[in-house]
Amino acid sequence: MLLVSAPILGVPEKLALSKVIDSGWLTMGERVRAFEEAFADIHGAEDCVAVGSCTAALHLILHALGVGPGDEVLVPSLTFVATANAVLYVGATPVFVDIESTDVPLMSIEEAETRCTLRTKAVILVHFAGYLANREQWQRFARARGLHIIEDAAHAPGLREVGTFGAAAAFSFYGNKNLTTAEGGAVIARDPALLDRIRQARGHGMTTGTHQRLNSRTPQYDVTMLGFNYRMDELRAAIGLVQLENLQEWNEIRRILAVLYRRLIAERCPAVTIPFAEPRTSAHHIMPILLPRYATRQAIIDELRTQGIQTTIHYPPVHQMTFYRRLFPNTNLPRTEDFAQRELTIPLHPQITSPVAEAVVTALATALDGCARAGTAA
Ligand SMILES: Cc1ncc(COP(=O)(O)O)c(C=O)c1O
Repeated sequence: MLLVSAPILGVPEKLALSKVIDSGWLTMGERVRAFEEAFADIHGAEDCVAVGSCTAALHLILHALGVGPGDEVLVPSLTFVATANAVLYVGATPVFVDIESTDVPLMSIEEAETRCTLRTKAVILVHFAGYLANREQWQRFARARGLHIIEDAAHAPGLREVGTFGAAAAFSFYGNKNLTTAEGGAVIARDPALLDRIRQARGHGMTTGTHQRLNSRTPQYDVTMLGFNYRMDELRAAIGLVQLENLQEWNEIRRILAVLYRRLIAERCPAVTIPFAEPRTSAHHIMPILLPRYATRQAIIDELRTQGIQTTIHYPPVHQMTFYRRLFPNTNLPRTEDFAQRELTIPLHPQITSPVAEAVVTALATALDGCARAGTAA
């Protein structure tokens, strides 16, 4: 089965893991610190904090910014559920905002304006599929209203602009991401005081960690805030350090494949549209396409599956999930809903070769022909 995404793991990762095991120290230590420095460096940031997941990163950022009960946070619904969940974790209210259009499926600034109230404290921008939101427009929007900008950069590691929009950016190193540590995440924040609060909250609010105490030979520590256990460990950091060396090259292969897919799909499946028609900076995390209205998505999914090609959907909208429908009934986001009904994600990862991309598009064209014929027959 050709998977939508697949990690690249090999001998360097195995060797790195063996070294950690041989060292006898598995929990957060020197490798986590080295990973933080290297990850910050590729983003042109002074520092960063490695954590257990992007979900933890989002939670820590909101917590450190003091967002809490009574506050509202603007979020897209076209995202993974973790974006909205993090807002609920701190007791604040996520306010769902529609996308700009099916061509630009990022949070609409006009819609965001209409959803702002005196309680709005922050906006979480998701760089959907790796394509960056418009930084200057959002900074103007946030400045005029005194809002924090938080980037959910789960799809966009390795881009210099990421982490420069506002307060902080959260990254994911989950197994299907551009860079993986199996589970893992990181926070970039330019304000050292904010990053310090996040670092301390990551480890139970303690003033020192186990490894630091070992090195300084003092068992003393204090707890000066309510914290969490959101630490990364040495095994993950060791894999991350190896992966990081390849990130820029892998992102470039993703970009070349996305260009190839755009050309092949325009030629062979002209009824299919591809979001982000205008060039825009991207880490090309996934390859979303929009099926024509006559196509039955499930029939396309099934046909591709019989040909050994996995497809997925990004995303079933969060506001339509049972849990969120119960919490916020009557949320209507027509552009998000239309996009989500027609979206299909086709395989995109650095191990895909040109002939494989061609085979995917050929299979897509065949499946669409089948739908067109079924429609004519009906
Ligand atoms: C946009 C987005 N935000 C947040 C997350 C959560 O990431 P993690 O699994 O690292 O908590 C994901 C993961 O898929 C995501 O795609």
